[in-house]
Parts: sequence; C-alpha cells; structure tokens
Amino acid sequence: MFNFFTANIISKNNLKQNEMKGNEKVLTVLNSLLADELTVVNQYMVQSEMCANWGYGKLHAAIRKQAMDEMLHAEWLIERILFFDGSPTVSKLNPMKIGKTVSEMITNDDNTELNVVREYNEAIKLAHEVDDEGTVELLTKILKMEEGHVDWAEIQRAQIEQMGLENYLATQN
Ligand SMILES: [Fe+2]
Ligand SMILES: [Fe+2]
Repeated sequence: MFNFFTANIISKNNLKQNEMKGNEKVLTVLNSLLADELTVVNQYMVQSEMCANWGYGKLHAAIRKQAMDEMLHAEWLIERILFFDGSPTVSKLNPMKIGKTVSEMITNDDNTELNVVREYNEAIKLAHEVDDEGTVELLTKILKMEEGHVDWAEIQRAQIEQMGLENYLATQN
C-alpha cells in the first residue's frame, strides 16, 4: 500500500544516491589528478637536481619552484578528497618524462603541462555538471597555475629557438 511516509523515504534515498554518484565521479577524478600532481613533483625534483648538477642554478631554482607548486596542488587535492570522506591515493605514479638534456626536459615539461591543463579543464566540466562549485573553484585556482607552467615552458622553448641552446644555457648559470 502506498503512503506518504514510504514515498518520502524513497525520494530521500534516491537523492542520497544521486549525491553519492556525483561525489564518486568527482572523487575518482580528484584521485587521478592527484596521481598527475605526484608524478610531476617527482619529475621536476629530478630535473631540478640534474640542472643543479650541471651548474645551471637559475634553471634549478625555476624548476624547483614548479615542483613546490605541484606539491601544493597535491596537498589541496588531498584536502578536498578527505573533505568528501574519500581516500587519497598517494601510491600511484604515472610514467615520468624526465629527458636527458635541458631541451628534452623543457619539451617534456611543456607537453606534460599541456596535458595537465586539458585534464583540469575536463575535471572542471564534470564538477560543474554535478553542481560541485567548491571543487570547480579549487580546480580553477590550480588550472591558472598550470597555465603559468605552460607559459614558462613555452618561453624557455622560444628562447632556445631564438638564441640557440648554447646561448640560452649561458644565461642559466
Ligand atoms: Fe599541478
Ligand atoms: Fe604544473
């Protein structure tokens, strides 16, 4: 027999299920972005130390600064995942693209950051779809920093192309 009480419980359960679905999708994406961030922290840490080892102090400092940005992003993502009562996965790293020379490193970093920008844009789209404006706000803040990283890599590539690798490296001591 149908009564209002039962109908009310059913609609509440449906609502809860729908909310969970939204969060679950967002949680999966947040964890996937976390893997990206932890991967680039490591990529940049190795590259910045390689640059230090070659005596390119400026490149070392610039890439190290980016590693710190990525660590901050990982921290913010972990914070958000915990806010949703999810479990942050910190044991997963994607394949790393380090490079053997400064040119290779910068090309790899440019491609990595372009990919990250694409992924953040997709994640923001999803967060919009499930009306999760808090996540939209966080991901947009990170996205802007990632666009800054793309800019940095593209400026270095342009300088290498225009002044030649040797002249560029002479400015990086
Ligand atoms: Fe990042
Ligand atoms: Fe980045």
